[in-house]
Amino acid sequence: MDVSWDRLSAAALGAKAAADGPWCGYIYDLEALRRHARRLVASLPPNCELFYAVKANSEAPVLEALHHVVAGFEVASGGELAFVRGRFPHAPLVFGGPGKTDAELEAALAMGVERVHVESRSELERLAYFARRRGLAQAILLRINLPLPAMPDAPLAMGGRATPFGIDVSLLPDCLAWLRDRPELRLAGFHLHLMSGQLEAAKRLELVETCLRAVRDWRERYALEIDDVNLGGGMGVNYRDPARQFDWETFARGLRRVVERNRMEDWRIRFEPGRYVAAACGVYAMEVLDIKRTFGRTFVVGRGGTHHFRTPYAQGHSHPFRVLPVDGWARPYPRLEAAAEPVTVVGQLCTPKDVLASEAMVDRVRLGDLLLFPYAGAYAWHISHHDFLRHPHPDHIFLPTQEALDVAAE
Ligand SMILES: Cc1ncc(COP(=O)(O)O)c(C=O)c1O
Repeated sequence: MDVSWDRLSAAALGAKAAADGPWCGYIYDLEALRRHARRLVASLPPNCELFYAVKANSEAPVLEALHHVVAGFEVASGGELAFVRGRFPHAPLVFGGPGKTDAELEAALAMGVERVHVESRSELERLAYFARRRGLAQAILLRINLPLPAMPDAPLAMGGRATPFGIDVSLLPDCLAWLRDRPELRLAGFHLHLMSGQLEAAKRLELVETCLRAVRDWRERYALEIDDVNLGGGMGVNYRDPARQFDWETFARGLRRVVERNRMEDWRIRFEPGRYVAAACGVYAMEVLDIKRTFGRTFVVGRGGTHHFRTPYAQGHSHPFRVLPVDGWARPYPRLEAAAEPVTVVGQLCTPKDVLASEAMVDRVRLGDLLLFPYAGAYAWHISHHDFLRHPHPDHIFLPTQEALDVAAE
């Protein structure tokens, strides 16, 4: 995704200039997000659909930018369900995630969720009960945890080994037998989200083929009338080496071949990525509050920290950043700086774990400059522990889509 660094930088400088004290904030380039999503959708084979996993970033403007571009939204809690349905009454929704409560299952039925992705036998029975009471025939996918021939390297494994996600494949015959006399649930197909953070398109394609073959095999072996498969998300973002990102074009081209080779053009194949859709549209910016040297290392202390932007800690990496110089210094104390040296960027929390970047070379960074952390549009603000230490929350600035600008200009 090509975000506009000019617009992001101008917005950061403007917000900092207007702020009353040291500033930090998230800035999202919604035009870049929408263009990126359009490109992903356009590249897929005709029988493949792209849903967006809302958990990655459920800010309303982000969802608005994606609405009508993606085929629908994947929600994974009653909170996400109510939030998304409240804003987009007609958007196709699918409801996944472990530990669904009775109230959430009932809400999903009441709100016309298109598919419920069932995570366990007990969930299946509970959903059947509520669907029967409502006189519905709810379409479902069974989420299956499948053994994999070789575990591709991905930091977040949701399947292929013992995890709390999905139904163990050995329980499939039992679930299918139970479903046979249950008109209140219509098995439309299967869901397989087995890992997140995969960086290699070729490995992702191998995984896709393994899953598609398994699903086709189940259709034949159990004489199922299904033609629907959801292969989850999981295309990764390379935070360590941003120049080497997941190669979506290669993936989309390969997908076409995989679909043809397996004669699955008549299936509806869905993906529901979150990170790869939204990460690159967001930047977390923090103003430099202090620069200190201790035990031979230089620390740059920024306004904010991992309670706003937990991504580097959650993923275990040193996050890339760029320094945005801020001109002018009208304060009655010296403007410290670090130049041509490695620095470790930390936040304001009283824990040594509040580290955003480690030993990263900078040309020059000074008090009052801004640090801009890219790839902060997914699993960033929404996975952070906002109220630890009760620091103020960051600003959230949404740079509008071109369409929104055009409408505003009319
Ligand atoms: C079931 C399911 N679908 C989709 C996603 C989105 O994954 P990602 O953001 O890695 O694409 C997740 C992430 O946890 C998930 O659990």
